[in-house]
Amino acid sequence: RTGARVERLPLARFTTLGVGGESEVWFVSDHAQLAEAMEQPYRILGGGSNLVIADEGVPERVIRLSGPLAERDLEPDPHLSTEGEIVTGWVGGGVPLPGLIRQLQKLGLSNLEGTVGIPAQVGGAVWMNAGTRYGEMFDGLHTIEIVTPQETRQVTPADLQWGYRDSGIPRNHVVSRVRLRLRPSTPEAVLEKMDFADNARKGQPKMKTPGCAFKNPGGVSAGRLIDEAGLKGTRAGNALIAPEHANFIVNLGGATAADVHALLDAIRARVPVPMELEYELWP
Ligand code: FAD
Ligand code: EPU
Repeated sequence: RTGARVERLPLARFTTLGVGGESEVWFVSDHAQLAEAMEQPYRILGGGSNLVIADEGVPERVIRLSGPLAERDLEPDPHLSTEGEIVTGWVGGGVPLPGLIRQLQKLGLSNLEGTVGIPAQVGGAVWMNAGTRYGEMFDGLHTIEIVTPQETRQVTPADLQWGYRDSGIPRNHVVSRVRLRLRPSTPEAVLEKMDFADNARKGQPKMKTPGCAFKNPGGVSAGRLIDEAGLKGTRAGNALIAPEHANFIVNLGGATAADVHALLDAIRARVPVPMELEYELWP
């Protein structure tokens, strides 16, 4: 045994929606522990900010990156950095993105400030190339380390077919750590761009939620489409289509996964345009 900490815990406490039953959580803090956890069927849990998890939990092991895999080394790597662009040391997949973005702003390092306000972990945000209209994760990546049960490999963005909300990395390939590619700027200039991107969130609900339910089809706001279908404020059990922004489902307190599924079904039934789900449903 490699010494990974294993505990049965309610997953609700790891999700921004606050829904999800008890499951076996593996806290892995190095590559050996990660490899051991991956010997049996597993799922990888990041910040839990895009997940709707069943009230029964999941039968698989749930892997959570912790310890050194949730630490960051932002020192410029002297071999990879140039005058106009710095490449950092390794940043663990388990690092919370909001704190990282704040730290980069204070250091006056640019490229990732467009992702301000995304309550993810670095690994989860890279895996789905989280972003806003002002920037996305792939704007600031140099190397991505990917772990599968068979191998560990390091790739660059050019090796991947990435796009809107998609890294091209297959499901269950673990983003264990990354090197960031950043442009030296000033704290003031980075803050200005950050505030601009953050401003676009003013109309988003402040309650427990996994963010936007559907991807924007062909660049059209899914929120606008759901709104136009007259669904704002629709309630199922203790889940609600947010009156502030129709692409957000919020937990009024005590919502179940079934409540959220009922709202997703209602949206699919009423919006005439096919939309791809952004939430991930476990199982
Ligand atoms: P999780 O929700 O834990 O998992 C999501 C998926 O990523 C799962 O498949 C999981 O297995 C996988 N995953 C997690 N960690 C890893 C890893 N280390 N390696 C490989 N796969 C992994 N998203 C946006 O894109 N833009 C936004 O503006 C935005 N705003 C949001 C606002 C709020 C208030 C909330 C709650 C969510 C918002 N989201 C937004 C959605 C969410 O933050 C993103 O989808 C984010 O990428 C999810 O990352 P996570 O670490 O929370 O992943
Ligand atoms: N709109 C409505 N009704 C609504 C919601 C929106 O009419 O209920 C209209 C707005 O008035 C605006 C337009 O639709 O004219 C666009 O809305 P918004 O600016 O909120 O952007 P969005 O396209 O709905 C996207 C991302 C968000 C991201 C914001 C800000 C997707 C699916 N959503 O929302 O990302 O935070 O831009 O950059 O791409 C997420 O992915 O989870 C997410 C929250």
